[in-house]
Amino acid sequence: AATTRYEAETAPAVCTGTIDSDWTGFSGSGFCNGTNSTGGYAQFTVSAAAAGTATLNIRFANGTTTARAANVVVNGSTVASASFEGTGAWSTWATKTLSVPLQAGGNTVRLNPTTSAGLPNVDYVDV
Ligand code: GCU
Repeated sequence: AATTRYEAETAPAVCTGTIDSDWTGFSGSGFCNGTNSTGGYAQFTVSAAAAGTATLNIRFANGTTTARAANVVVNGSTVASASFEGTGAWSTWATKTLSVPLQAGGNTVRLNPTTSAGLPNVDYVDV
């Protein structure tokens, strides 16, 4: 099926941090640089035609050598965890693929970091 791209810098997405554009290679006009804390989340509102399991492709960059861990929270419930490994540079982007349950219609998908390092930089989610 066709995918829809949800940019981290485009409302109704929420970035608890700043929308930055200082590292190259991002899509759209910027990326979410969440604050380096467990409170620094990125949230997307994604649409599903029908209830069921959906594939999320999350584009991210982590210029450190330490993976950054997050819970994946859909409509308020933690449904998965994800580890965003180092990509070698902040300007080197990678894709993390996750399967999550969605309801028909709108869904909030939030990446909640589980350590004080916070999230990687997050560019978009394709659903
Ligand atoms: C650097 C980098 C940011 C990144 C941050 C981090 O400051 O320039 O883009 O978000 O590290 O550690 O998260």
